[in-house]
Amino acid sequence: MHRHHHDHDDSLEALRDALTAGFWDERYGGSDRVWSGRPNQRLVEQTADLTPGTALDVACGEGGDAVWLAKQGWQVTAVDVSQVALAKVAAHAEDEGVGDRIRIGFYDALADPRPVGRRTFDLVTVSFLHVPQSDFAAIYRGIADAVAPGGRLLVTAHHPDDVATGARHDHGPGLMFEPDRVLETLGAGPSGSDWEVEVADTPVREQVTPDGPLLVRDTVVRVRRAE
Ligand SMILES: C[S@@+](CC[C@H](N)C(=O)[O-])C[C@H]1O[C@@H](n2cnc3c(N)ncnc32)[C@H](O)[C@@H]1O
Repeated sequence: MHRHHHDHDDSLEALRDALTAGFWDERYGGSDRVWSGRPNQRLVEQTADLTPGTALDVACGEGGDAVWLAKQGWQVTAVDVSQVALAKVAAHAEDEGVGDRIRIGFYDALADPRPVGRRTFDLVTVSFLHVPQSDFAAIYRGIADAVAPGGRLLVTAHHPDDVATGARHDHGPGLMFEPDRVLETLGAGPSGSDWEVEVADTPVREQVTPDGPLLVRDTVVRVRRAE
């Protein structure tokens, strides 16, 4: 019992750590590129039918999504808690010839859940931002606040099934969640809601790992704010 408690505290501590600039600066500073540099498959799928406008990429990491969006014609604002990551985004954008279409900015979801701009962006996208359960609602509502009337919020996350299949360790319910969690948080769906549900899906994809291919499930939510 005692032991169990201890483990629980440790994992909560670890989760808090994973939300600080220090943790991510070190992670991003340690190697040339932590992620692939390519956009997330779900972002590519979910923006294919949209007309480019203004986009906000929240917790952008090294900017694979932000640079890809800029290349499709979007005017992108990319924000993250890690200045090291943001410097990489800026460099990546220059390399790819879209430096003039990407702005970078600091954003700490735990300090202030609302990123830049109130009801400003045609698209707000957040991929794999892992937050503690207790902060989930405030952070996702804060992020959604940046969506303009008629604009869209796209959330991509790890699905909790990945724990059952052994694809991922259990890092707690704020890290992995089902589409309903986002819909409930925003009050999306019912008539009279400010948010229309366009996509609430849990597709599987193959992830390449050093140990070989792994099947993982994503949570994908796309909602549109009323005009
Ligand atoms: C798993 S990475 C995902 C990066 C990118 N969205 C992608 O899909 O490749 C999580 C990102 O969240 C950022 N992050 C962690 N804590 C944060 C916080 N409190 N506020 C804002 N961003 C945070 C990290 O710096 C990191 O870039």
